Amino acid sequence: MTQILTLRRPDDWHLHLRDGAMLAAVLPETTRHFGRAIIMPNLVPPVVTSAQAAAYRARILAAGDGRFEPLMTLYLTEESDPEDIAAAHASGLITAVKLYPAGATTNSSSGVANFDNVRACLEKMAEIGLPLCVHGEVVDADVDIFDREAVFIDRVLDPIRRATPGLRVVMEHITTSDGVDYVKSSDSGDLGATITTHHLVINRNHILVGGIKPHYYCLPVAKRESHRLALRVAATSGDARFFLGTDSAPHTDPNKESACGCAGCFTATNTMSILAEVFEQDGALERLEAFTSRNGPAFYRLPVNEDSITLSRGEAVIYPDKIETEDGAVTVFDPGFPLHWRVSN
Ligand code: NCD
Ligand code: ZN
Repeated sequence: MTQILTLRRPDDWHLHLRDGAMLAAVLPETTRHFGRAIIMPNLVPPVVTSAQAAAYRARILAAGDGRFEPLMTLYLTEESDPEDIAAAHASGLITAVKLYPAGATTNSSSGVANFDNVRACLEKMAEIGLPLCVHGEVVDADVDIFDREAVFIDRVLDPIRRATPGLRVVMEHITTSDGVDYVKSSDSGDLGATITTHHLVINRNHILVGGIKPHYYCLPVAKRESHRLALRVAATSGDARFFLGTDSAPHTDPNKESACGCAGCFTATNTMSILAEVFEQDGALERLEAFTSRNGPAFYRLPVNEDSITLSRGEAVIYPDKIETEDGAVTVFDPGFPLHWRVSN
């Protein structure tokens, strides 16, 4: 008997589309299944001003399928102008502002080093209800990379939230039980978290055991198994505070398979098949729609998509190992288990 699952069309609440030839190549991988996505602003140079966001949005729309809606973000810097942010929000141009601690990840050198210098922006955002998407890792050299999320919550995020009542925060791509617990500690409706596809599938052994696997390296780096299991429970629970943000982050193979490889897993192509498999493994298929299609819009106070996608279970679905771009090949994330759920629009 064929099993069929119909979901409201999903959205991706954390996505890297890049620009130019890479944008043209990766965009269809997202628009095939997703209705909307929160577009990360870590281009080179970053998308800091409303004018830059408007121009980037136009480039995405020009490369798109006419249906996909990019939800733009501004990259917060210590020079960001609260009035520019507020105007971009008022005009409907942006859906969120992104906070990268300076040096935390790919293209984050313009991020924030001294959080006191963005106080005025955060206060304005709390006043107007504009969400802050947070890359939650400290960058201190003396903090172990596997502890950087937990330390960020204590040293940075919790103090910011206490000092800025009403600030709406999305903890992006949480990777630890500490992140899950922190999000669950707030019933205010002002705190949510995205969880990636790959962090539901891999732990740190997948990166390092039996040889180094650069295509499993991303930031925040995958943690030990107990943390992966905590993310699985959070994602499959239906809890409205957790929603899908793939963090699909394309880098060409030479940039990944290098002595100093870039961080990022490219999951846009097969994310929905992987998630269906994951939720099935955990006996939670009936809660997949909450994670992919309902909890995100609820947090962002947007309607759910009106149309649907259908997934059908059958023979193993084979996805391409790589997609070709004019900049070079990009390897598609390999979950390491067969996929049986095929998506049709
Ligand atoms: C992202 C990228 O490549 O832009 N990389 C990643 O490992 N996730 C940046 C980010 O989201 O941290
Ligand atoms: Zn990201």
